[in-house]
Amino acid sequence: MVRGASTAGPANTVTVSVTAKALVAEDVVTLTLERPDEGRLPDWTPGSHIDLVLPNGLTRQYSLCGDRWDARSYRVGILREPASRRGGSGSGSGYVHDELWPGDRVGIGGPRNNFHLVPSETYLFIAGGIGITPLLPMIHQADLMGAQWNLLYGGRRRMSMAFLDELAGYGECVHVVPQDEFGLLDLSSWLDAPRPDVKVYCCGPAGLLDAVEAACRTWPPHALRTERFAAREQDAPVHGAPFDVELRRSGATVTVTPDISVLDAVGAAGIEVFSSCRQGVCGTCETTVLEGRPDHRDSILDADERAVGACMFICVSRSCTDRLVLDL
Ligand code: FES
Repeated sequence: MVRGASTAGPANTVTVSVTAKALVAEDVVTLTLERPDEGRLPDWTPGSHIDLVLPNGLTRQYSLCGDRWDARSYRVGILREPASRRGGSGSGSGYVHDELWPGDRVGIGGPRNNFHLVPSETYLFIAGGIGITPLLPMIHQADLMGAQWNLLYGGRRRMSMAFLDELAGYGECVHVVPQDEFGLLDLSSWLDAPRPDVKVYCCGPAGLLDAVEAACRTWPPHALRTERFAAREQDAPVHGAPFDVELRRSGATVTVTPDISVLDAVGAAGIEVFSSCRQGVCGTCETTVLEGRPDHRDSILDADERAVGACMFICVSRSCTDRLVLDL
């Protein structure tokens, strides 16, 4: 799954080699990434993603979808985005599909996880298209732990749906629903009656996420966890005027005017904060809030986390109060 995009790469990247590339469905390739010295890569957990820093200067975030117990290789699945068909290899996914081959080197940042698999005896996984990628390792983990689970997996057509061969081994837990054969996922039959014992994990296009969120409105808090491909649409900022941000550890205070982000204001003061997507979807710029009330404008935090206000993503989030104090 790809979240957001930028041309500014994260600061801490490791160089890896592409050791395999495979076409696993229509317009979907997987890349296997390993260190040139065959050394260990950082550990990760289901739901994690990495930044992929491409030789054409673009950075994209992709979910890890391989075996988390394999310490020496990562696997990512990459959908050719529709825009890249028109723009050729000038886009991230177009470059990967058309110009990146085994033997090439790329940078990676992370892994980071904003989509943790919490313990449960029962799970319902819902994937739309390439949204299957973060769910694959979750399914492996749930199965390994002996949890009960079902996967609803929708896609345009069977040929466009990746990893069907791997999922076939799970038998009747997997419900494959190509739209041209069966129509849209039948969410109501799975979600109409709230089940307090079930955790629902959903990843896919915005339309699917919105429909699942609406269907789960009467479910217990935290029953549903989602991950978005792209930033959620946001209302106008709460605070239309400039506000001050005190950087407690640095001893500086910056003024954030309506036309710049907190991240940019902090950067202009000489304080480096790592960033990647700059759209509030990847989690790289997470910053601890010490005082004040953030205006959360990211697509990561849930309602409770927003209410607590202990952290914010300063590439997009702003302030409800005249002053914020950050742990920077
Ligand atoms: Fe991605 Fe801020 S840089 S959330």
